[in-house]
Amino acid sequence: MTPGSTSGTAVRPSWDQLPAPLRDGLTERLGPITHVQVQTGGFTPGLAARVSLAAGERVFVKGISADHPLAGRYRDEARVVRALPKAVPAPRLHWDEVIAGWLVLAFDDVPGRHADLSPRSADVGRVVDTVAALAADLTPCPVPDVPDARDELASLVHGWRELAASPQPHPDGWVRRNLGRLAAAETAWLAAADGTTLLHGDINRSNLLINTDQLFLVDWGQPVRGAAWIDIADLIPHLILAGHTPQAAETAVAPALTAVGAAPETLTSYAIAFAGYWARMARRPDPPGVPHLRHHQTRASKAAVRWAAHRTGWLSVRT
Ligand SMILES: Nc1ncnc2c1ncn2[C@@H]1O[C@H](COP(=O)(O)OP(=O)(O)OP(=O)(O)O)[C@@H](O)[C@H]1O
Ligand SMILES: [Mg+2]
Repeated sequence: MTPGSTSGTAVRPSWDQLPAPLRDGLTERLGPITHVQVQTGGFTPGLAARVSLAAGERVFVKGISADHPLAGRYRDEARVVRALPKAVPAPRLHWDEVIAGWLVLAFDDVPGRHADLSPRSADVGRVVDTVAALAADLTPCPVPDVPDARDELASLVHGWRELAASPQPHPDGWVRRNLGRLAAAETAWLAAADGTTLLHGDINRSNLLINTDQLFLVDWGQPVRGAAWIDIADLIPHLILAGHTPQAAETAVAPALTAVGAAPETLTSYAIAFAGYWARMARRPDPPGVPHLRHHQTRASKAAVRWAAHRTGWLSVRT
C-alpha cells in the first residue's frame, strides 16, 4: 500500500543513468527512441518513463533490476494486467521481458495527469465511480494465485499495537490518549476482508491518471483477493489528504460503500488500522533510494488519524 502519493516524490533513474546494456536493449526492442520523459509520481526507485519512438508511437516503460526486492511486484503487475477484463480501465500491456538483467514492462502511454482529489474537483466523482465499478468486472477474481486480502493485509495494515509497545511517544495528543483503544480496535476489520474480488490494492492519486476523456488505473503490482469495500474505502484517507474534511470524504464514497455492504464498525476499525499503518511506517528509516516516503507517510498518517477520530467520536479528554 502506497500512501496518497504525489507528483515529484520518486527518485527515478534518468535515461542516461540507466546501464548502457539496458538502454541498448530497450532501443533494440522498441526501435529508435527520440525522447524520454521520466515520470516522477510514486515512490518506487525503478524506471518509469514515457518514451517517444522515431516511428511516432509512444509507450510507457517501467522496469527494475530483476534481483531488486520489489521485482516481484513488477512480475505480479504483468500477470495481473494481462488477465484484466477489457472493461477495466487499465493501460494495455504490450510486453514484459528481462532486458540486460532488468524486468521491463511496456504499456500504452497515457498522456494524462494525476487525478485531483481536492474538494470541489470534478475528478472526485469520476474517480469514485471508476473505483466502485471495478468489482463488477473483477468478481470473481480473474487472476489465479492472488493472495487473500485477509492474510496479506493482516501483516501490513496495522500499527498501534506496535507503537503502544514503543518507548517513543506519539506526537499527537489524541493518539496518546487513545492509544490503548486504537491498539485494541485495529484488527476487527479483518473479519470482513474476505471476498472473491480482485482488488487493486494501491488506490492512490499517483495511480489514477486522467486524460481528457478517460480515467486509467495504473500500477497493478499489489493485487489481493478480497472484499470489494477495501479499494473503495482506501479512497477516503486520500481524499482527506487532498483537503477534504473526514465527513466530506466519507460522503463522497458513501453510496459506493453502501452498495457493497461495508458495515460501519468495519470501516471504523479499518480507519484506525490505516492510520496505524502509516504512523508505524513513518517511523522507519528511509528505504534506500526513496527519500520522500517517510515524510509523506507522516502527513498521510495525520490525515488518517483525523478519519479515525471522526469515525470513533472518541473525545480528546485526558483520562
Ligand atoms: N501507462 C502510463 N502512461 C503514462 N504515464 C504512466 C503510465 N503508467 C504510469 N504512469 C506514470 O508513472 C508513474 C509511476 O508509474 P507506476 O505507478 O506504475 O510505477 P511504480 O514505480 O510501480 O510506482 P510507485 O512508485 O507508485 O510504486 C505514475 O504515477 C504515473 O504518473
Ligand atoms: Mg504507482
